[in-house]
Order: sequence, then structure tokens, then C-alpha cells
Amino acid sequence: MFSSNTVDLHILKQRAFNLRWATQAEGVIPLTAADPDFPCAPEITDAISKYIKDRYLSYGPTQGLPALRESIAQYYSNKRAFTINPDYVLPCDSAAFGIYLVCKAFLKQGDEAIIFDPVDFLFRYSIEAVGATAIPFPIHPVQQTLDMDLLEQMVSPKCKMICLCNPLNPSGKSFTKSELTRIGDFAEKNNLIILSDEIWSDIIFTPNAYTSMASLSDSIADRTITVHGFSKSYGLAGLRIGMLLCSNPKHFDLLFQNSLHQSTVHGVNMLSQVAAISALNDCGYWLDAFVKHLQKMRDLTVSSLNEMPGISCHLPESCYVAFPNITQTHKTSEELHRYILDEAKVAIVPGLKQWFGEGAEGYVRICFSTSEDILNEAMSRMKTAMNKL
Ligand SMILES: Cc1ncc(COP(=O)(O)O)c(C=O)c1O
Repeated sequence: MFSSNTVDLHILKQRAFNLRWATQAEGVIPLTAADPDFPCAPEITDAISKYIKDRYLSYGPTQGLPALRESIAQYYSNKRAFTINPDYVLPCDSAAFGIYLVCKAFLKQGDEAIIFDPVDFLFRYSIEAVGATAIPFPIHPVQQTLDMDLLEQMVSPKCKMICLCNPLNPSGKSFTKSELTRIGDFAEKNNLIILSDEIWSDIIFTPNAYTSMASLSDSIADRTITVHGFSKSYGLAGLRIGMLLCSNPKHFDLLFQNSLHQSTVHGVNMLSQVAAISALNDCGYWLDAFVKHLQKMRDLTVSSLNEMPGISCHLPESCYVAFPNITQTHKTSEELHRYILDEAKVAIVPGLKQWFGEGAEGYVRICFSTSEDILNEAMSRMKTAMNKL
């Protein structure tokens, strides 16, 4: 399923956007946006085909298909050890929109929300889009220890939310139970909503374990809104499907009102929901094999990067991105990104504020969810370029 001949570059060059194959000059290998180069599981396309064969493509229920809400609740209780009522599951059109929806529902103009730094840009973007201010809490990309005293100093009466990205994109950290407990206690003490983005939580490399914030206790679950999605685990980014889960009925009502699903201004495409049900119910075998392949690609990427002069890369515990330190190249992340693109014809993501926050400078992000052949070629080209620097 994940051998090199399953990657169809001809199709990817037409269909894979967002900094990937369809947007790059001929000959460039994109290790950019975290989106797999592999086709999705066949069960997913079979389910979509079966649905469209009847030629009825009517409106769906405003709160999402009951079968999908059930499958999501079941999945979370099986895999994440917390019980969730399907009534408080809201499928939405992408995890990105889910993050925005939580910000829209719980923040108003002038409020503050704490985000980790570095972290994916979506948190800052969504907080600012609703007129609130993102307060960056630095977490070292390699040591990754939590400075709880600093966190305490960052909270003001205007602060209403803490945004957790667990696992953490881009550094690949999976938070331990004791770290989550400290963050949860901090949120309780300061009466904060916890936005827990868990879109990467299926991509955990052995021997690491994963803990969901809402599984810690009923009181933590009561203030947590969990975001999850299908782009990373099942390669369904183009279907724009994600989900929000909560335990507090008032929170669900607020999210639902803000979603505009009821007025049909927004709502999740039925084909995407059909695909998501199939992913959760039929494609566990595919996900397991995918993670196994990714662990091999992670090891290949990290060991290759560590052979390059000036680059030092830690082993990510989760996510399919490497986040090497490049400070010893004496180039900025933007300069190195440009050099690698021109010299090696490999596209990587520079550690700029616009992508990951100010704490990302001195690092670049490299996505490894591709085939072994493509990755070997990209690493070999990068090695040659770095030896010339
Ligand atoms: C942490 C995080 N959250 C959310 C998303 C967006 O997911 P989706 O494609 O479902 O909008 C990404 C994608 O890179 C991500 O890394």
C-alpha cells in the first residue's frame, strides 16, 4: 500500500495543491504541506461511489449524519479512553474550520488566547480573525519542557482560552499525561476553555503513547473542546472534513449556533461524511500500515538530515514532519529554504512567523509522508547541496 509504485506523480501534479506537487516547478520534490503522497484507502472511494450511484444528493442533517456522529463517539471511546455523547459531536468542514469555530464561539474582540510557539499558524490566524489576541507561550522545539511559571505570568483577566496542539505540529511532541494534567490544572485555576487540536493523534511512533486532554477528568472534559480531522490520518484533505467534540451541552449549543449549519450557510458535504464513516469503520488496517511506513520514513529522514553539515534533527514522537535545527548553517530559515529549492530542487517550509510563530526561526519543516524512493532522492539531493554550502 505504501510502496514507491503507489505514488502517482502524474495525478499529484494535477491535484495536490497547497505548496505541493501541483504548485511547484517541474522537477521540484515538495516536502512541504503535511499531506500524504499516497492514494486513500479503497474502502473510502467505494463508499463514495456507492452513495452517488443512487443519484440522490439531497441536503443532510444540520448537525451531521447520525452514523458519523456515532462512529466518531465510538472511535474516541475505543482509542482515547473518554466517553463522548454522539449528541455533542459536530462534524464540520475541516479541522481548520473547527479551530476557527471554537475561536468564534468562545472569544470576542479584545480577548486573549494562549497558543504554543512554535505551532501551526492556524491558531494565531483563527484567534486574530475573530478580533482577539494570540499570546505565544514559548516551548523549545527540542527540549520541549513546559515552563509553568512562565505560563502563569502570561495569563491576564482578558485571557479566555488556551490552545493545545497535541501532538504538536511542527516539533512532533506528544504531551505526557503529567504535562496535560499541569495544563489542565492551569486552565481550571484560570477558568479557561481548552481547545485541544488532536488532528495528529493517530500518527504516534512507537514506543510513545498518546493521551487526550479530555480523558483526564470530567471537570477537564467539561471545559475542553476537542478538534480532530481526516486529512492527516486518512489523506482526505480535499474533502474538507473535521469534527468538534465536547462534553458540556452548553458548549455544543454555542458551537452549533456559531457554525451556521442550521441556516445552511455552512455544513459538511454529504460525500465527505460518507467517506469519514468509512475511514473510521473500515480503514483501521490502512492507518496502522500507514503509521508503520511513516515510522520508517521518519528514521530515514532524521538520520539523513543528521549527516548533513550544519543540520541537527531530533526524533519526532509523532506527526509526519521533521523539524531540524539549522542554526549551524549560519543561514536564516528563509535563506536555507531558498538555497535548497534552487540548488537541490527540494521544497521545504522555512521556520517563519507566518507558518509557525517567532520561535520557529532557526528551524525548517520537512514533511516525510511520501514513498521511500522519493524521500531517498530528496535527501540525497539535499545532502549534495549542503556539502557544497
Ligand atoms: C495542527 C493542525 N490542525 C489542523 C490542521 C488542518 O486540518 P484540515 O485539513 O482538516 O483543515 C492541520 C493541517 O496541517 C494541522 O497541522
